[in-house]
Amino acid sequence: MKIVLFGPPGAGKGTQAKSISNRYSIPHISTGDIFRKNISENTPLGVEAKKYIDKGQLVPDEVTINMVKDRLQEEDCQNGYLLDGFPRTVFQAESLHDFLQERNEVLDTALLIQVPGEFILERMTGRRVCPSCGASYHIKFNPPLEKGKCDVCGSDVIQRKDDSEETVQERLTVYENQTQPLIEFYKKEGLLEVVDGTQAINEVFESICDILGSE
Ligand code: AP5
Ligand code: MG
Ligand code: ZN
Repeated sequence: MKIVLFGPPGAGKGTQAKSISNRYSIPHISTGDIFRKNISENTPLGVEAKKYIDKGQLVPDEVTINMVKDRLQEEDCQNGYLLDGFPRTVFQAESLHDFLQERNEVLDTALLIQVPGEFILERMTGRRVCPSCGASYHIKFNPPLEKGKCDVCGSDVIQRKDDSEETVQERLTVYENQTQPLIEFYKKEGLLEVVDGTQAINEVFESICDILGSE
């Protein structure tokens, strides 16, 4: 199963991706997580990406697309994958389409988690993330079992630098201008599915499973 997951910042992509990846046994590939790992390791890719991420802007397409293509050619992607946060521009979507076509492959579903802007700020400012395994929590909506510790791996959870109010606003604007056009793109391809992301976390997951079926 090959799935694209998209939606505004804070829609719950990362939260749902963890569950989808477990349920359907496919790797969860988050471009945001890959960039953050490179930033923490201070790699050349990380140094480049940080310039954009800290401002809430998109990392340039050519950097992002090459990184994803490399990742998709790894062994664990042979039976499918879940892309979280990629594509994020129409150019990225076209590049993914061409990449798949060259390999005689197709996407199964492009899943939009829809959440109106007024929900986003509270979600982002209350978010805590695990720097080791990428798990995402919320101080009110989804707190870790032990305060400040990741349920999965026990690391101390932290606040993402780009979750400040100002940067969140910029990320929302970037989403509207550059990522929202993907709705039309995937509608035309006949792949678009929409989930109401304002429901509780487990309800969103149930809606997603209804769409993806019991493969
Ligand atoms: P990325 O890491 O992908 O950030 P994003 O798209 O802004 O999305 P988030 O990770 O902030 O939100 P999410 O939807 O995963 O929500 P989450 O599940 O954590 O990208 C970061 C940056 O990297 C970008 O700004 C860009 O610079 C760069 N980048 C990445 N990909 C790129 C690309 N393809 N091209 C160019 N640049 C790229 O949930 C949020 C919070 O809400 C959590 O606290 C969670 O617990 C809570 N929550 C989740 N669901 C619910 C619910 N149903 N009810 C209540 N609370 C909920
Ligand atoms: Mg995320
Ligand atoms: Zn963890």
